[in-house]
Amino acid sequence: DSHVPHTFVIFGASGDLAKKKIYPTLWWLFRDNLLPKPTNFCGYARSKLSIEELRTKCHPYMKVQPHEQAKYEEFWQCHAYAAGGYDKRSDFVALNEQLERLENHSNSNRIFYLALPPSVFEQVTVNIKEICLSQRGWSRVIIEKPFGRDDVTSKKLSDHLASLFHEEQLYRIDHYLGKEMVQNLMTIRFANKILNSTWNRENIASVLITFKEPFGTQGRGGYFDEFGIIRDVMQNHLLQILSLVAMEKPTSCQPDDIRDEKVKVLKSIPALTLDDMVLGQYVGNPEGEGEAREGYLDDPTVSNDSNTPTFAQGVLRINNERWEGVPFILRCGKALNERKAVVRIQYRDVPGDIFEGNSKRNELVIRVQPGEALYFKMMTKSPGITFDMEETELDLTYEHRYKDSYLPDAYERLILDVFCGSQMHFVRSDELHEAWRIFTPVLHEIENTKVKPIPYVFGTRGPKEADQKTSENNFKYYGSY
Ligand code: BG6
Repeated sequence: DSHVPHTFVIFGASGDLAKKKIYPTLWWLFRDNLLPKPTNFCGYARSKLSIEELRTKCHPYMKVQPHEQAKYEEFWQCHAYAAGGYDKRSDFVALNEQLERLENHSNSNRIFYLALPPSVFEQVTVNIKEICLSQRGWSRVIIEKPFGRDDVTSKKLSDHLASLFHEEQLYRIDHYLGKEMVQNLMTIRFANKILNSTWNRENIASVLITFKEPFGTQGRGGYFDEFGIIRDVMQNHLLQILSLVAMEKPTSCQPDDIRDEKVKVLKSIPALTLDDMVLGQYVGNPEGEGEAREGYLDDPTVSNDSNTPTFAQGVLRINNERWEGVPFILRCGKALNERKAVVRIQYRDVPGDIFEGNSKRNELVIRVQPGEALYFKMMTKSPGITFDMEETELDLTYEHRYKDSYLPDAYERLILDVFCGSQMHFVRSDELHEAWRIFTPVLHEIENTKVKPIPYVFGTRGPKEADQKTSENNFKYYGSY
């Protein structure tokens, strides 16, 4: 029922995530009339802020068009803000009173977004549970990573949350699950006979899932140094993509049927070992400009002798009938040569090639960003009188094919899903548990034995050892990247 009132509460409202992602997302959803009416918003943080000040902080990220001004005013009229401590019961009591006033005592449904450091998760969730839950409507809680830092701490957090909320109330965000091409993986695989029937070890040689960013820690060194690239990107975003690429067909598109299959395939993956990894850390590029001159260790918020990897590549194996022997190579890094997130499904060599070994492997490429695209690399005869051949693509670049489609930001889809109660694109606790099982031993080994990452220069492809390992794992580069 779209007339039920809703309240969206943002904890950490004065922080970075709130101003860069959450408030802008709420505005875009409001602007496009996608939110139920009425929906009110309430920020909460330690610092005292007026709505006006909050609005000024967020404004640079909101992308307001001149003709939207009236709507934009309307948006800010539905806001409240409360300052308070995260451990102070009395402040939560005051927050709850404020919510009731904002809702006009209407028993609104409530969504609580925790844009907070993990150190306060526990207190805040206890206070929400004891003081702020909706009295007659539903209450849902959105949380952001880090969900612990290894299997033990993550389980502790999961147990804590489970003692307060039902799994149906918990929305663990992995924003990669909100991206267009990640959501497309199910359709690509299960609505196309031709792909579905070749999606196995008989046909596929290897799978490479890459995440690259051309910038360094950008002021997040403090957070990053404690977690590193494996926890920041590989254990969550890349593993989520892997599970969608590799899982068996779910019995239906119901969220739990899908998540059951994701868990199942993760269970078939043995824990990663150090032998299967390449780790790197960027150093400054004296010829680079601005941030590129600085190495990771030059960041004042990073300790001088930090061994934290800013680049990592790991080769995972899936021990089941479909995938035995097919390497799944996950690769991610900061301060590399470009921004790109891409999945490359490389097919096997043509058996009995009659073209003197010149047939290159087919490859299905799913480009998540930038510029969503799906293309299939294949061989054709070069056009004209020649009988030579060349590699070309069947190319579905969204910018060309879907010129007028609006592709929402990942957060827009995900926050809307929370209003709708769809958990399809959120991480269930057993998925998280499996993800940590796969990564915890190697993370501990790296930390306990102080493995030194290989230095690579800001703005390059990362350590060459990674390309070498990729080649050893049945992925062919054909002399070009
Ligand atoms: C976040 C990581 O989860 O994802 C960041 O913490 C990273 O380090 C970001 O930059 C990348 O997200 P996107 O959507 O820009 O690819």
